Amino acid sequence: MLVPLIIGLNIVSLYFSNQSFMDKPVVGFSKLSKSKKIDWIVATYFDDRASAEQIIKQYWNSDEKLQQLHDEFIENTITNYYLPLGVAPNFVINDRPYTIPMAIEESSVVAAASKAAKYWAERGGFTAEVVSTTKIGQVHFMYQGSKDSLKRFFEILKPRLFSETASITQGMQRRGGGILDIQLVDKTEALENYYQLHATFETLDAMGANFINSCLEQFAKTLKDQALRFDGFSDSEKHIEVVMSILSNFVPNCLVRAEVRCKVEELSDNDIPDARHFAEKFVQAVRIAQIEPFRAVTHNKGIMNGIDAVVLATGNDFRAVEAGIHAYAAKSGAYTSLTHAEIENGIFRFWIEIPLAVGTVGGLTSLHPLVKLSLEMLGKPTAKELMKIIAVAGLAQNFAALKSLTTTGIQEGHMKMHLLNMLNQLNATNDEKAKMTEHFKSHAISHHAVESALNDLRMKA
Ligand code: MEV
Repeated sequence: MLVPLIIGLNIVSLYFSNQSFMDKPVVGFSKLSKSKKIDWIVATYFDDRASAEQIIKQYWNSDEKLQQLHDEFIENTITNYYLPLGVAPNFVINDRPYTIPMAIEESSVVAAASKAAKYWAERGGFTAEVVSTTKIGQVHFMYQGSKDSLKRFFEILKPRLFSETASITQGMQRRGGGILDIQLVDKTEALENYYQLHATFETLDAMGANFINSCLEQFAKTLKDQALRFDGFSDSEKHIEVVMSILSNFVPNCLVRAEVRCKVEELSDNDIPDARHFAEKFVQAVRIAQIEPFRAVTHNKGIMNGIDAVVLATGNDFRAVEAGIHAYAAKSGAYTSLTHAEIENGIFRFWIEIPLAVGTVGGLTSLHPLVKLSLEMLGKPTAKELMKIIAVAGLAQNFAALKSLTTTGIQEGHMKMHLLNMLNQLNATNDEKAKMTEHFKSHAISHHAVESALNDLRMKA
């Protein structure tokens, strides 16, 4: 009896110590082994511990090296979180064919991108150009004293900011990039005593976050050290307080443009019997998104369906891209559409302009096997080429959404793509799925309709 009693007490004490987690935080969690972390999670949060543990472990990769690679991407990894990686073929960008990899969970996105790609391939394809590639970083600091003294100090400081970052920048500079310029910016009208070192960078094929942040932290150090030694400052002026040094994810000068155009009459297809009417309605839909923020947010969300999926598949930082693009959409002071459309001299033109700071070297790009695969599928693009591909994916997605919205409505296509999800929720077998897919080719899809058609099928079996 003693052994089961001891085990029982251990479980009870673990259980009670975990209960008290609500009052006091768990200590040293990150130092636990992966299996101990799972034990703790499972014991703390799950009634059916065996099933929770089984689900966590079901997603482990049987290749231990590959699993370890994923474990080491972040802290406290307990398992892998899968998203489907789909492909949208038939894109033509600047006369070159592409199949675009997309990592996304939303049922209709890849299908919509593929449809738009094929539609525009038959009408000359997409064109895209990179407008600019400059990135930004800032050292935010507080200074109380004479503005003229600070300006004089900055003139002396500036060459040192370059020379003291030479060891960080030499590799990038050899390849043609580096620090482009550093400015002293007076922000004291907006916030008392607040100034910036505002620096611009060219990071070539790297997204450049680590490069920029390393330069900025060195700038901050040089700024503080040199201020202490500057004779032109009074004793109190010498003590500059650096608040923080960080890149900006707002990159309005790292800009890409993508476009489609054709004669209005060439827009016709099965869903578009009247090309002129379609073109006019489409342009109105874009204009609505330009002046109505409630619509603009949904309009741009559809664009981000395409953009995020490619950004994720190529191992880039979709949170940075999202933040930068939405800030750009609001740059006039009102949140507005990222795309534009017009009809001029019988030509329909539809285009997008977005800031995009992405990389094709560094970060996950050489580590994650699926990212490497995605980049190879895209012909190992430079960062500039990837900017064009991503902008095109966003434009294609918006075209597909607006084409559906202004013609058939989106639910028909969405529900068709969602049918398999609903059938999976209802635990349909493969045979049932095939029969239901056939059935719903000629019936309207809703959750209720799918449930009752599946019930009928099961009753008949
Ligand atoms: C759904 O994910 C995206 C759409 O709502 C975009 C739009 O309305 O333009 C279809």
